[in-house]
Amino acid sequence: MFEITGLQSGYGGVTILKDVALSADREVYAVLGANGAGKSTLLKTLAGIIRPTAGEIRFNGERIDRLPAHKIAALGIGYVPQENCVFPDLTVAENLSIGGILGKRSKADRLAELYDLFPDLQERLDQKAGSLSGGEGQMVAIGRALMQEPSVLLLDEPTAGLSPRYTDLLFRRVAEISREKQVTVVLAEQNVTSTLGIARKVHVLSLGKTHLQGATDEVSIEQVRQGYHI
Ligand SMILES: Nc1ncnc2c1ncn2[C@@H]1O[C@H](COP(=O)(O)OP(=O)(O)OP(=O)(O)O)[C@@H](O)[C@H]1O
Ligand SMILES: [Mg+2]
Repeated sequence: MFEITGLQSGYGGVTILKDVALSADREVYAVLGANGAGKSTLLKTLAGIIRPTAGEIRFNGERIDRLPAHKIAALGIGYVPQENCVFPDLTVAENLSIGGILGKRSKADRLAELYDLFPDLQERLDQKAGSLSGGEGQMVAIGRALMQEPSVLLLDEPTAGLSPRYTDLLFRRVAEISREKQVTVVLAEQNVTSTLGIARKVHVLSLGKTHLQGATDEVSIEQVRQGYHI
């Protein structure tokens, strides 16, 4: 269970996020909003990359908002940033192996499960991650986070710049990860329709504030889109 109340956060004294609250539990929780709305700032704050200036972040009841990023990761909160986040000079296998340092089950079991999820990865294990296509790189980045067997996965625009084929595939895989592994996925996205299709809850940010939040089956696309016109 992931719970955030009264969250305020920003950069160097400039407040970006204002009074954001959410709770997510073993479901896909969508964070939508225009460019600059604060989606990445929210995910960076949850991952401990930037420290909130007010509010609380709780994970299974424990306050985590004062912990450094590596301790948050060690609790089982995986983070895949928006920027390309594979090690380009390392192979796919080496990138996945780095993710495998944390995690309880045997590395072989976790890798086998990952290849079921993303079969393309297995064919590219010896390839340098820097030479992969955008979609393949995203799968490595998500794969690396999954190797830690997270119970929460923070995904920042995983489909940005991907072809329709990879975009559809990634949405299907994200839904599968949440459903089958009972992972709480906080998914920042620009792809409104597909995101609403796999998320149970949606949170629309507008200029760092909550425009609306609720169950996806109770929110219309028009209401979501209004958050983009301010
Ligand atoms: N490192 C930074 N230093 C100062 N301001 C920043 C920094 N990163 C982001 N911002 C500002 O914070 C605001 C929110 O940015 P953020 O990256 O969270 O938006 P976003 O919703 O993720 O947008 P996008 O969809 O383009 O990724 C923007 O006004 C941005 O200029
Ligand atoms: Mg962003």
